[in-house]
Amino acid sequence: MAILVTGGAGYIGSHTIIELQKAGMEVVVVDNLSNSSRESLNRVEKITGKPVKFYKVDIKDAAGLSEVFEKEEIDSCIHFAGLKAVGESVEKPLEYYTNNISGSLVLFDVMRKHNVKNIVFSSSATVYGTPAFVPITEECPKGEITNPYGQTKGMLEQILIDIQKADPEWNVIVLRYFNPIGAHKSGTIGENPNGIPNNLMPYITQVAVGKLQSLGIFGNDYDTPDGTGVRDYIHVVDLAIGHVNAINKINEKPGLKIYNLGTGKGYSVLDIVKSFEEASGVKIPYVIKPRRAGDIATCYSDATRAKEELGWVATRDLHEMCEDSWRWQKSNPQGY
Ligand code: NAD
Ligand code: WQD
Repeated sequence: MAILVTGGAGYIGSHTIIELQKAGMEVVVVDNLSNSSRESLNRVEKITGKPVKFYKVDIKDAAGLSEVFEKEEIDSCIHFAGLKAVGESVEKPLEYYTNNISGSLVLFDVMRKHNVKNIVFSSSATVYGTPAFVPITEECPKGEITNPYGQTKGMLEQILIDIQKADPEWNVIVLRYFNPIGAHKSGTIGENPNGIPNNLMPYITQVAVGKLQSLGIFGNDYDTPDGTGVRDYIHVVDLAIGHVNAINKINEKPGLKIYNLGTGKGYSVLDIVKSFEEASGVKIPYVIKPRRAGDIATCYSDATRAKEELGWVATRDLHEMCEDSWRWQKSNPQGY
């Protein structure tokens, strides 16, 4: 039996496939390559020495997806596929709702028709909005979400909760990721954003490699130890391993479960700059800019539930995250 990995050619998906294959699990990937390239999967194959079954299919295409379910023996799904750029989602809400919501509805329906009712869903700490408290536990109420991308995560969580409630044969694990950074140790796969990066780490690595001149730090007047925003950065390989544990859990038929995947530690933008400079030996020039709309001061997880119920903890520290991000960028200055 195989796990269907939607969006498996992307950043988190490609790292997760490695860990699934390492754990002896079979994977089948569907991706429309709208934000990725087939090359990431070629490199995964080199790393693991195992072939990756790949279908270039859009999750909005019910017939294309059904064909995959008919050809392959699928018993569960890890659903990464989606558009994820916060700023772009504000400009193109219709595209984001169509791709992420309509696409997921098609996927869930095709799954149901093929009696596949086990799903691990990529959600985000963004659903907490301005968190009611930190560290954030899963009990923290969902907050006001300020962009269409984040709304799609909140809505898809609710849709899955309703599906599972109506039909308890479904097993749904919602994983709320904090801020994934880092890359596989080989330096051959990593995050490959289109255009100018929105996220902090790819921006820093592109400054380091000389593609961008200097980092803009969005605000140094937050109520945090050094005034810059604090986040819970998690190594993408730790995050990937969390999916292996989630699949093991789903085989126990848990019904509905929600887990934070984070380290439980908060680091500021300046902490990240300093740690990256130490890990890479490259100086990162920066300028302080105004706050970015929609940003919050502090966001970090309490991941105790994942530890207790999934037996999962993040083990890779910030230095390793920076070293690995840098190895990927330096060896692949133009991405894939
Ligand atoms: P990514 O863009 O690298 O990967 C997403 C993949 O989905 C891409 O390969 C893209 O081509 C594919 N895709 C998009 N729409 C599709 C469609 N209609 N049909 C088929 N494939 C489609 O992003 P990522 O960083 O790997 O994120 C994976 C998931 O995790 C996403 O759902 C994202 O929202 C979520 N997430 C990411 C972060 C983060 O910071 N990277 C944080 C929290 C949650
Ligand atoms: C981190 C910190 C910025 C860039 C986003 C999404 C979230 C999730 C993860 C998907 C903040 C500061 C950033 C820059 C900066 N994605 N920063 N200069 O905003 O925590 O989360 O990615 O689900 O939904 O919102 O991550 O990496 O953009 O920012 O100063 O050029 O770095 O202000 O404090 P964020 P980020």
